[in-house]
Amino acid sequence: MAIRTNALPTIGREVLDLDVAAIDEATARDLMGLWREAGVLLFRGVGTSPETLLKLSRCFGELEPHPIESIRMQEYPELICLTNKGGLRGPVYAFDGVPTYGRIPWHTDLAFSEMPNAGALLNMVEKASVGGQTAWLDTERAYEALDSGLKQRIEGLEVRFEFCTDLSKMKYHNPGGVRVGASATGFPDYPPLARPLVWKHPATGRSILNLGPLNLQKIVGMEEAESDALIRTLIDAVIQPQFIYEHAWQQGDIILWDNYRMMHSAMGHPVDVIRVVHRTTLRGVAKVGRTLPSEMAADMAQPFAAASM
Ligand code: SIN
Repeated sequence: MAIRTNALPTIGREVLDLDVAAIDEATARDLMGLWREAGVLLFRGVGTSPETLLKLSRCFGELEPHPIESIRMQEYPELICLTNKGGLRGPVYAFDGVPTYGRIPWHTDLAFSEMPNAGALLNMVEKASVGGQTAWLDTERAYEALDSGLKQRIEGLEVRFEFCTDLSKMKYHNPGGVRVGASATGFPDYPPLARPLVWKHPATGRSILNLGPLNLQKIVGMEEAESDALIRTLIDAVIQPQFIYEHAWQQGDIILWDNYRMMHSAMGHPVDVIRVVHRTTLRGVAKVGRTLPSEMAADMAQPFAAASM
């Protein structure tokens, strides 16, 4: 099957008119190559059937069940349902006075795990009538654009990530927000982790960044003030509109992303507005980082949100 694509405005590509039922081995290989090149792929008008999402997802690797069992779909254990329909499964924060559900600032999934997932696919089943956008940021492009002095300065450094349980504890690029409600979810505990700040993508070999601010704590072994200043400089250089694609969802859209290369962020939506998303997760193929001795065990008992961190 010939695949036609269009570039999205900033990063990523849209795959046009794909007939998922007709995907054969050769098409799956082509899609895989496109994903590697683009980092983010948008498929519009694909529908909302779990079988379609599963078939498309399997073109990009093996699927893995999500660590939070309670959000797995019973009939489809490789799918999770992210929604506020039928009750809240994560905290509510007020932004500008609006109680908001599903807000997850910039992160890579499982940044606090030695075996992060390779990618994921979101399928919009019921779009929010207000808000609910998702955004992706290409750290490969952002790294390329850093000046050579900064590249040299960060080469070989490690960053410490911790499972962030509460937005008020987020140290960098905190979007604000006042916690106005909470409900427990079921994330396992994760000890702190050191990851290379710059590393080579396991499939493409290109340099990418581990910099998801949601879980970022400090540069390992660097004095606090220096680490803080360097992280702020980097975040200012990286979180820039030219590296970001923000998607305004339509029902039936699917977006696939490369979780090694891309950070993503969910904008959230008013808590009384319904949104339903299905998601699959692509099993990790590379170990990234090393576990550090735990100093914050007490803080890790309450997860931040019932989503896909
Ligand atoms: C979203 O709900 O838009 C994204 C959730 C995620 O981080 O997977």
